[in-house]
Amino acid sequence: MFLTRRLVALALAGFELLVGSTLAAPAKAPDCCETLRKSLPDIVSWSNTSAFTDSLSAYWVQQESLAPPECIVSVQSVAHVQTTVRVLARLNAKSNTCPFAIRAGGHGNYGASNQASGVDIDLRGLNRITVDQGLAVASIGAGASWGKVALELDTLGLVAPGGRDGDVGVGGLSLAGGISYVAPLVGFTADNIVKYQVVKASGDVITVSATSNADLFKALKGGLNNFGIVTRIDIKTLPLSRTWGGTTYYDISTAPQQLNAFYNFTSDPSYDDKAYAYQSFGYTPGSTVVLNNLAYAGAPATLPAKLSVLNAAAPALFSTLRLDNQTAFTTEQAVASPKGLRQIHYTTTFQLNKEILTASFEIWNASLARIKSVPNLTYSWTFEPLPAPLLAASAKGGNVLGLPSGGKPLVLGLIRASYVDAADDTYLNDIVKQVFSDIEARAEKLGVANQWKYAGYAGKGQPVIEGYGKSNVAFLEKVSSKYDPEQLFQRSVPGGFKL
Ligand SMILES: Cc1cc2nc3c(=O)[nH]c(=O)nc-3n(C[C@H](O)[C@H](O)[C@H](O)COP(=O)(O)OP(=O)(O)OC[C@H]3O[C@@H](n4cnc5c(N)ncnc54)[C@H](O)[C@@H]3O)c2cc1C
Ligand SMILES: *[C@@H]1O[C@H](CO)[C@@H](O)[C@H](O)[C@H]1NC(C)=O
Ligand SMILES: *[C@@H]1O[C@H](CO)[C@@H](O)[C@H](O)[C@H]1NC(C)=O
Ligand SMILES: *[C@@H]1O[C@H](CO)[C@@H](O)[C@H](O)[C@H]1NC(C)=O
Ligand SMILES: *[C@@H]1O[C@H](CO)[C@@H](O)[C@H](O)[C@H]1NC(C)=O
Ligand SMILES: *[C@@H]1O[C@H](CO)[C@@H](O)[C@H](O)[C@H]1NC(C)=O
Repeated sequence: MFLTRRLVALALAGFELLVGSTLAAPAKAPDCCETLRKSLPDIVSWSNTSAFTDSLSAYWVQQESLAPPECIVSVQSVAHVQTTVRVLARLNAKSNTCPFAIRAGGHGNYGASNQASGVDIDLRGLNRITVDQGLAVASIGAGASWGKVALELDTLGLVAPGGRDGDVGVGGLSLAGGISYVAPLVGFTADNIVKYQVVKASGDVITVSATSNADLFKALKGGLNNFGIVTRIDIKTLPLSRTWGGTTYYDISTAPQQLNAFYNFTSDPSYDDKAYAYQSFGYTPGSTVVLNNLAYAGAPATLPAKLSVLNAAAPALFSTLRLDNQTAFTTEQAVASPKGLRQIHYTTTFQLNKEILTASFEIWNASLARIKSVPNLTYSWTFEPLPAPLLAASAKGGNVLGLPSGGKPLVLGLIRASYVDAADDTYLNDIVKQVFSDIEARAEKLGVANQWKYAGYAGKGQPVIEGYGKSNVAFLEKVSSKYDPEQLFQRSVPGGFKL
């Protein structure tokens, strides 16, 4: 078929940057690992074991798999997490000699969930899923993948508002916020979590909900790995199984019609909040396309009018649009975004505005000529809408993301380059950074810039926490001193976006 896997890959929307970053090697990681082994003899592994190589090779970003930790702790129970945290807290009490990383699905930024030369805590063994069908609440181990969630919930006719790519982890996505296909209906993934089980820096396990540790409950809804290790989430589900979903590809020359359709879709004052879509412009060697990824939280026999606006914008080259279950859709996305490539990505947010949609596309399009010489490249610019009903649901969801609740839609922009050769890091990063900053500068000039940067898509060094706004930052700092007085997760967990 004309459609290659790499072309399909452009449909995907989340990604990582990270080039040229160096992580400080701890002074005495071998001692840290030996000390951990004394308490946890069966679950600490070194590079001479398959547990270690399996874990390292399952990271999404190539750079990660090439930066081994000294050892990996493959926890299988909450008690394992408690012991690991207690040992690491003791080892790090005086000086920061045992930096460590917390890893769930391993789809985060380079360095976010892997501590080169240090200790990785691999949570993937905590992947149990149980469902209270009466309450329609799923209890999910933080190390599960969203594909496993879909597989289990499909059999019950339920959908969790979570990741669209089956390989992405429950832990990282839900702590970042989490954009799902049903986001206009229910807000971010985090907005739907009713309870967390958390191992604090002390090693104690606590239940976190609206009525128990309510300050931490809010802080976790966007607060990333800054407060403790989340071992389980309880999340509200929707009674759905088959839905509309899939991706349609168009020739790049149709971009003007597509941009109009996206504007129409997102600005719609009577937005049908069962509908969601994102739009990408993508280059792979041999083809440059527009693609629209569409979803509808329901299974009417014909495609709802709300989505037809996008679907009918131009004649398609190819489409996977259909009625199907969530296992099929999350698998389609995972296949389209294979692990093992180098990744560069940055995200921004702006108010919905025709000029910025067009100008940002044109800035990206103009950079293609310079970037095409890089072999094995995929290079995309994506719009994910944050329409009014999504913002309204988020405002009620109790998260700490700091997005406005008002009726004006926002649009999240994501630039992404994937490639294979480290020799291209500098060349590509310089171009992508320049294109991205030209786009942000244009948004500023048009008066449509927004400070929010989605943690799930942000590149290393982007001001994610700052984007939540001053009062949320102050709140997060207060909660951090309360639950982690020694600041273990600030000092000894360098990966991710810190307070
Ligand atoms: C191919 C692809 C598709 C994506 N699709 C979507 C999407 O549809 N919607 C969306 O919102 N985002 C999406 N994302 C972005 C995604 O939400 C982030 O990459 C997220 O960080 C991945 O979570 P993870 O558990 O797989 O990653 P990890 O790398 O394991 O973790 C990411 C961060 O979270 C921390 N963390 C993870 N688990 C825990 C825990 N239990 N306790 C404390 N800290 C923890 C880690 O320390 C790390 O800093 C996608 C990303 C990719 C690469
Ligand atoms: C693997 O390496 C560790 C640390 O060097 C060592 O203690 C252990 O005996 C080795 N295991 C095997 C199976 O070689
Ligand atoms: C989900 O759909 C696929 C086909 O797309 C099918 O093979 C699978 O059995 C379905 N799962 C459930 C639980 O119905
Ligand atoms: C993209 O850029 C090329 C080269 O500058 C130009 O010929 C083409 O018309 C542009 N495409 C669109 C859809 O604007
Ligand atoms: C969107 O498109 C529909 C159908 O073509 C049209 O009726 C509507 O007026 C458009 N809305 C906007 C905001 O352009
Ligand atoms: C990179 O591209 C070359 C040339 O098309 C191809 O032979 C090779 O398999 C590609 N490598 C990867 C890792 O995709």
